[in-house]
Amino acid sequence: MAAELAVITPALNERDNLVPLYQAIRAVLDGIDWELIIVDDDSPDGTAEAAADLARRDPRVRVLRRIGRRGLASACIEGVLSTTAPYFAIIDADMQHDERLLPEMLRRLKTDGLDMVVASRAVPGGSDEGLDGGYRKGVSGLGRRLARMVMGIELSDPMSGFFMMRRDVFDSLVRRLSGIGYKILVDILASADRPLRVVEIPYTFRRRRAGASKFGGRAAVDYLLLLLDKRLGGIVPPRFVLFCLVGGSGVVVHMAVLFAAFRGFDVRFEVAQAIATVVAMTSNFWLNNILTYSDRRLRGSAMLRGLISFYLVCSVGAVTNVGVATLLFQEFGSWILAGLAGTVVGAVWNFALSAFATWRRPGPSA
Ligand code: GDD
Ligand code: MN
Repeated sequence: MAAELAVITPALNERDNLVPLYQAIRAVLDGIDWELIIVDDDSPDGTAEAAADLARRDPRVRVLRRIGRRGLASACIEGVLSTTAPYFAIIDADMQHDERLLPEMLRRLKTDGLDMVVASRAVPGGSDEGLDGGYRKGVSGLGRRLARMVMGIELSDPMSGFFMMRRDVFDSLVRRLSGIGYKILVDILASADRPLRVVEIPYTFRRRRAGASKFGGRAAVDYLLLLLDKRLGGIVPPRFVLFCLVGGSGVVVHMAVLFAAFRGFDVRFEVAQAIATVVAMTSNFWLNNILTYSDRRLRGSAMLRGLISFYLVCSVGAVTNVGVATLLFQEFGSWILAGLAGTVVGAVWNFALSAFATWRRPGPSA
């Protein structure tokens, strides 16, 4: 019998949580045809083996294993795509989400003509007491406000990672999903071409059972990237926007160092300009490495190699920039247009080449 409800759980280093999660789901979904899909991103702690153990004992459990890939949202998307069930739920593997809501979510989805049911910490009766510290609560509130301001999403808890949805509705928007970062719910809501019929039901966000949260600064950057991608409608890649913002900061760094060296220390202008250039390139590399390419961050000796390749890429970019600008200046005589065009060509060059030479996406063997 094909499953009616697929429960998708993204799992990164959740080995010790899988058995309790499975047992809780099996108990609560008694009487429903369900399957559990565990999406592992090659966790070093043996999550995939623990999941395979479960799958051997209960064929309703399946493991989807991704190698050389990362990301909560994309893991969920691929988990959904791997099932044919007409309804699916997304739930964290660490027991922070209250699985006892699942039957009620399915019932509402089937009988109330809804597209989606979201488990919310922020409607009356819900609580986020399992969220560690005021810091996380503050960040969560900020994320909620951003979702409202930027995307017009009116949910009380758009940051929720716990919801259930109709598969046909998901299929109607899957090609527009960004799949960036953590916030799959915001991604889905912002990708729909009509307002979805959503109901929120309250729950208490529990404490994590075992292991540690993967939430960090990178999740925040990814969230901004997601909003950028949604707003710019796929015209400009969000990474390029970040890359240009970092480039802009490089101009400030450059001018500050030039000023300090030339005026402060009486260094010859050419030398001061050269020092400023190297410092700005280094700071650009460093910022791009932790922001623009936070998901492919280079460390240790790979970072040194990356820095050198970045210097090379930027040097060629600078030559191209000057070449194009000179050509346009001779042709049209406008220094402003020529200067701008050179800068744009240089930035695109630096972006395209460093994506390949410096921050190449790791393949399955990497
Ligand atoms: N496959 C895969 N790949 N799973 C991942 C990845 C990844 O890159 N990153 C995280 N996960 C899994 C974790 O193993 C866990 O099951 C679930 O995604 C949530 O990750 P946590 O690290 O436990 O996140 P959290 O508890 O800090 O945040 C949760 O609550 C937030 C509310 O503030 C998540 O549900 C967030 O989506 C939610 O916004
Ligand atoms: Mn968690």
